[in-house]
Amino acid sequence: VKGREVPVVIAIDGPGGAGKSTIARVLAERLGVAHVDTGAMYRAVTLAVLRAGAEPSDAAACTRIAGAVAVERVHGRTLLDGEDVEAEIRGPDVTAVVSVVSGHQGVRDVLLAVQRAGLGERGGVVEGRDAGTRVVPDADLKVWLTATPQERAARRAAQVGEEDARGIAALAEELAARDASDAARMRPAADAVVVDTSGLTVDEVVDGVISSLKAEATP
Ligand code: DC
Repeated sequence: VKGREVPVVIAIDGPGGAGKSTIARVLAERLGVAHVDTGAMYRAVTLAVLRAGAEPSDAAACTRIAGAVAVERVHGRTLLDGEDVEAEIRGPDVTAVVSVVSGHQGVRDVLLAVQRAGLGERGGVVEGRDAGTRVVPDADLKVWLTATPQERAARRAAQVGEEDARGIAALAEELAARDASDAARMRPAADAVVVDTSGLTVDEVVDGVISSLKAEATP
């Protein structure tokens, strides 16, 4: 953003299906900064846990695995020990237990360093559940994205190519269950701008965020 000193750091948080990934990616492109997808990192560790045959509820095992694997994000793809696992981490097996694995404090502590390291020298857009409260609490701007449950389910359905009404209803239930499970770390930062993305286009939301950033920058 013109007239702004680099680096610029923006936190984008909110529940699944609120539009975080798309908004964070487009915003990072427009600002020319890194996009740090923290959910993808929790998903990659979850895949490693499943592959190791460990129990997702076993905090010690999950923490050990998180510390032993290399999780990277390169050009919008997620790498686990160098292997591109971007498609696999979005699948149903990982999605079903990622909330349990990401609930372990040890896993969160390991990934915190990876997340902060994802910021480039120009800063970045950090996307997650606790970006504004924990990963980058000093962010220049914190945004909490929401959308109606129906809209979130419809978006998630489009993402995974689900067209059947019963399938969409199942996705809505899955989102609600994950919300309940993620609830402890799903709180907007006190200084976050809350944006309901229902019915808004990606560009409308991104333009709004950039305006908020400019407003914050104005003394
Ligand atoms: O945004 P997502 O659906 O890819 O996130 C996957 C899971 O990871 C989600 O169930 C909550 C968890 N998560 C988290 O606990 N903290 C974050 N900063 C990001 C995601």
